[in-house]
Parts: sequence; structure tokens; C-alpha cells
Amino acid sequence: MIDYQPLYNTLVEAKADAWAKLLPQQLAAAFDFSRHGNLEQWQTVIECLPELATAHRLLDADAVMIGLPDDLAEVDRMELEQQFKALHPWRKGPYNLFGIKIDTEWRSDWKWNRLKNHIAPLTQRLILDVGCGNGYHCWRMLGADAKMVIGIDPLLLNVMQFQLIRKLYGEVPVYVLPMGIEELPAGLKIFDTVFSMGVLYHRRSPIDHLLELRQCLRSGGELVLETLIIDGCLGQSLVPEDRYANMRNVWFIPSIDTLISWMKRCGFENIRLVDVTVTGTDEQRTTEWMTFNSLKDFLDPDNQAFTIEGLPAPKRAIIIANAE
Ligand SMILES: C[S@@+](CC[C@H](N)C(=O)[O-])C[C@H]1O[C@@H](n2cnc3c(N)ncnc32)[C@H](O)[C@@H]1O
Repeated sequence: MIDYQPLYNTLVEAKADAWAKLLPQQLAAAFDFSRHGNLEQWQTVIECLPELATAHRLLDADAVMIGLPDDLAEVDRMELEQQFKALHPWRKGPYNLFGIKIDTEWRSDWKWNRLKNHIAPLTQRLILDVGCGNGYHCWRMLGADAKMVIGIDPLLLNVMQFQLIRKLYGEVPVYVLPMGIEELPAGLKIFDTVFSMGVLYHRRSPIDHLLELRQCLRSGGELVLETLIIDGCLGQSLVPEDRYANMRNVWFIPSIDTLISWMKRCGFENIRLVDVTVTGTDEQRTTEWMTFNSLKDFLDPDNQAFTIEGLPAPKRAIIIANAE
């Protein structure tokens, strides 16, 4: 069981008392077994994890590392690996847990390495990571000296994968909460840095998403926005007619100039583009820990510049800005 009291205390300190009061009810509702057929089974996996003692924790390396191979007997490691695999598919990582290398679908460390030298130092900052997946980047943020990291993600499997890792790590100011950004109280204005990575294109209203992010930040706080973009000029945006790279829930893929103009309208300043990268099939791929189809299967086999739907292949931008 996670002790959320330090989180509630931090919210009260930050004058977000209303959310501190609401959060226990939100958590109880989200973790109700009737919400998801597999939730009880996932919780059992976590409860059954052995209490493992280790002094070895490394959060500022590409693979988030907890424990050494020598901390465990081989037979125990094989059992632990089966427990981890019960939470398949593992999409974000990599992790190295007691010598078990979780080679996830995504090399999420590559995204972190693209942005880490461009952001304001995270030292002693209160951080929100919107759509944090299983929390891989939250661990990297703590490794960069954040005061507390709050990740939110509505997908319960992600939250349970995070809880598994947190149980191995021990008590720590990192939380992943089972909710979407729309469930946060309006006008929080408490976070020093807010990350929204890989989320904007999943939102039906990207402008509302930007306004919600703005509302989470204190004045002058920093937004780190990573999203799909297209080549094009101001005003252009791709709205797929149906699927995009097989994903059903992709709504708006703007050009960089369009995205920057949206950000200005939503109260961001000092807006700077720090990276543009085409997503490669070496960054997102099928692995032993994510055995389903991946990017390679969603690109045109004859021309990798296009998706199987004939749309421009995934290209992502990282844009950093400050709340006015
Ligand atoms: C493409 S993944 C990105 C994960 C991670 N941020 C990264 O960059 O590697 C998008 C994540 O956003 C989450 N998500 C979808 N809708 C959301 C919402 N309304 N609020 C917060 N997160 C959401 C999904 O569950 C998913 O884990």
C-alpha cells in the first residue's frame, strides 16, 4: 500500500487544499476493482512481491536501476521475472531491476536525453508529468533532483507497473495517480515544471489541453511539451480521417508554427523549439517485454516516410515555454 500522506502534505503546503481533500476519493474510485477486470490480479502480483533489500538505486542512467543481480539468488530472480511479465505489455523504459532487464517497447531514455539539457534544472522543483505512462520519466526527474514528482495517467496497467517498481524502490517522493488531466481541479497553479509528452495528439481539443497545462503551472513555471508534428506552415494541422499509424485516438497533428501559435494564444511565452526527431523503428519496437505489433508494422513497408494509412510517418517536436 502506498502512503499518500507526504503527497497530501505537499499539496496543502502548496495551497492546493481542495485537491488534497478530493484526492483520497479520486483514488478510492479509480482503484475500485469493478473498474477493470484485471485490477485485482495486478494488485495481487504487487502484494506478492518479496520484500527485497537493496542499497543500490540509480536514477540518472538510461536504464532506471534498482537492485543488483547479486542481491538475489538465480531461482528468486526467475520468479521475480515471471511476476513482472504478469504486467505485460511494458511500453516505457528501460528498467534494470535486480539484474532483470526490462527492454520495453520504447527507448524512453532517448526522449529524455533529447530534452534534459534544455530544461530548467529540476532541483527542488514540484513536477507534474501528464500522461506519464508507467512513470519512467518520473524516475528520471527524481534522479535530476526534483523535490516531488506527481505523474498522472488514466491507464491502470501503467499505474500498476509504476506501483511494482515503487515497491522495489521503497518510500520516495514520486507518485503516479490514476487519472487524466481533465480530472485535476481547475486553476491549481502550483507546479514549477509540467511535462506533457505524447499526450496532446490524443486530446480531442488540443487548445483545451494547453489551457489545462497552463492552469497547472505557477506563473513563470516551465512547460515541456512533446508531441507529433507535421512539416507545414502556420495554420496547417493534420486531422486523420480515421487511424494514424494504427492508433484510433489521434486527433490533431499541427505544424510547428501552428503549435507555437496555439501556445501563444494559451498564455505561454519564451517559447522555444529544442528538438525535432523522426521516430525510428529502433526507438519504438516489439520486444520480449512488449510482444504485440509496433511501429515497423504501422509504416508503409515500401516507403517508411509514410504510415500504413498513407499519412506522414511519426515526427516529434519538443517545445519548452514559460507560463506568463
Ligand atoms: C504516448 S504515451 C506517452 C507516455 C510518456 N509521457 C512518454 O512520453 O513516453 C501517452 C500517455 O498519455 C496517457 N493519456 C491519455 N489520455 C490522457 C489524459 N486525458 N490525461 C493524461 N494522460 C493521458 C496514456 O494513457 C498514455 O500513457
